[in-house]
Amino acid sequence: STSKVLTDYSKLIPKDGNVTSLILDKVGKNLHSMEGHPINIIKKKIQYHFKNNLSNENTQFKFFDEFHPRVTVEKNFNDLLFPNDHIGRSPNDTYYFSQNELLRTHTSAHQTDLMRSQETAFLVTGDVYRRDTIDAVHYPVFHQMEGVKIFPQTPDSVFSKSIDYYTNQDYKDLDSVKLVENDLKKSLESMIKAVIGQDLQIRWIDAYFPFTSPSWEMEILFQDQWLEVLGCGVVHPEIMKNCQLEKHRGWAFGLGLERLAMILFNIPDIRLFWTEDKRFHQQFQQVKYLPNGDIDLKQIKFQPFSKYPSCFKDISFWLGKDFHENTFMEFVRQICGDLVEKVELVDHFENKKTSKSSSCYRIHYRSMERSLTNQEIDLIQQTLRDQIENKVDCKLR
Ligand code: PHE
Repeated sequence: STSKVLTDYSKLIPKDGNVTSLILDKVGKNLHSMEGHPINIIKKKIQYHFKNNLSNENTQFKFFDEFHPRVTVEKNFNDLLFPNDHIGRSPNDTYYFSQNELLRTHTSAHQTDLMRSQETAFLVTGDVYRRDTIDAVHYPVFHQMEGVKIFPQTPDSVFSKSIDYYTNQDYKDLDSVKLVENDLKKSLESMIKAVIGQDLQIRWIDAYFPFTSPSWEMEILFQDQWLEVLGCGVVHPEIMKNCQLEKHRGWAFGLGLERLAMILFNIPDIRLFWTEDKRFHQQFQQVKYLPNGDIDLKQIKFQPFSKYPSCFKDISFWLGKDFHENTFMEFVRQICGDLVEKVELVDHFENKKTSKSSSCYRIHYRSMERSLTNQEIDLIQQTLRDQIENKVDCKLR
């Protein structure tokens, strides 16, 4: 017989959590609140649009920028109907302080608190944390903006336990759901065009999130490629009920700010958001405010300052049975900090006889700020080799 084994991720969380000092250092940096930082500029541009073009007598969007990223598992997952075996809960993907507390993996963690306290239209901006691979567009800390709008009572919104809201087509076809869907798509299309440009091409892809149904992702056409920029949907009726909003409907969206900033300003590497190099920050200081208070983003075009040379070193090892790639990535970040540009798997093989497998990773080093010397790279690589077997389940070859 085949029985599916559900993983209880809470059992896999180490007693003292898995937050490293490197990650803890980022908490409180609040790039989104730093005057003149590109993340701050985009945040303000979007807030301006919601305040001036998407608010009216009935709907006044409120902004929350200062919620702390340390939240409970209840807020980040349970309240949002994440099943217990949802991969997002894995300590391999998420930074936990303990079994009950974590670094929020998305700004959706604040939805239910705000809805319970009667807020009906809001944007929440903040830093979010995810364990991940290492390359030019992935960093374990990034910034999101969450938006929620609650609509007036509607007679067809009665919650029923027997309806599967993820799949039920009659529910998705209800006038009240369609109305929310249309308002959501119209609002987000106008927002993204205000930020990037009026002739932008946009498409909607059906998606799945535990806390919205129906759900979509917005993609935009940029340099001949469709890029995903946000996730959104109609708030799941069970969440509405749990927030004493069972007679209402609402929409929600979540948007990655780094992604948008990289497109808009032509920023080539996500580590640059964390640099203290003046050559980066000076370029965003000439932000022009239009007479009506809006920001003119067209004035800003980032000139990547000449790249310093990169170099790479390979490391090969046998994988232990508890080897997880993200644990290795985390270890590399902890030792190398922002000097690591990319980590790529260049070779992998399994010895059929011993059923042992081996991987070779190539670590690309580059500083955003200066030239690195061979000596210092050798030293870092040696530190990696000295410590890896204590931190990652593997045997050096
Ligand atoms: N929180 C989701 C994410 O991080 C995005 C989202 C927000 C989707 C709100 C739907 C509604 O991917």
